[in-house]
Amino acid sequence: MTAQLIDGKAVAADVQTRVRIAVEARTAAGKRAPALATVLVGADPASEIYVRNKRRSCEAVGIRSVPQHFAADVSQAELMAEIDRLNADEGIDGILVQLPLPKHIDATQVIERIRPDKDVDGFHPYNLGRLAQRLPALRPCTPYGVIELLKSTGVDLYGKRALVVGASNHVGRPMGLELLLAGCTTTIAHRFTRELDQEVARAEVLVVAVGKPGFVHGDWVRPGAIVIDIGINRLPDGKLCGDVGFEQARERAAFITPVPGGVGPMTVAMLMENTLEAAQLREKG
Ligand code: GUN
Repeated sequence: MTAQLIDGKAVAADVQTRVRIAVEARTAAGKRAPALATVLVGADPASEIYVRNKRRSCEAVGIRSVPQHFAADVSQAELMAEIDRLNADEGIDGILVQLPLPKHIDATQVIERIRPDKDVDGFHPYNLGRLAQRLPALRPCTPYGVIELLKSTGVDLYGKRALVVGASNHVGRPMGLELLLAGCTTTIAHRFTRELDQEVARAEVLVVAVGKPGFVHGDWVRPGAIVIDIGINRLPDGKLCGDVGFEQARERAAFITPVPGGVGPMTVAMLMENTLEAAQLREKG
């Protein structure tokens, strides 16, 4: 079997079109465009690129983006004061603090300071708690995007055996909650998991987010599985690759995401969706 590729660029474009049409309908009805504040600290090149892409996406869908850029030596107090100001600003619907933050900043404190109804990253404990209780509010963008990709395959997820490899706070754990919500029998593997190859071999839905090239061998993949590779790693030759041995996995899976062009474009698309959702939530009160 050679897997069908899941085209993240196409699915992300569909989501962005949906958001753009909804934003246009709002402005046609006399409401203001949703507004997203992006908070960037320091000059990490990867973070600068991510934030630039997010701002470009805002422009494409009609969301107003409000950039806030701080020097790397900004104090915790200054950053908290900025969050307070954005929380209180009636003209701002979403607040995104680009991570990672410099070491002297306590990122947990910053994230927990964001009003949950403006937390478009879905990282606030309130939003994660809502997801855990099957009452999702604003959902973490990458796992939410993976659900959109899985839906695009048309495969019924109820009762499927799902495995998430990687248990990070921002990706692996909320991914597990999303798959549970979608009706999967869900396992989360992490650094202490034994016999990972056997866990992978059982998985009908496999989602990998560890950040190590080729960490999951392609020949571990269960024949007919859906494989979602969240990893984006740069190889010494400059090429990008995922966490799954792609060529061998492709020969076994039914569906697989490429890297790049799989999960990557979905994160920004779901951020647009969340910003629109935040504007709508705040309107309802
Ligand atoms: N850094 C890398 N990915 C992300 C993300 O999805 N959100 C934020 N805020 N920072 C990130």
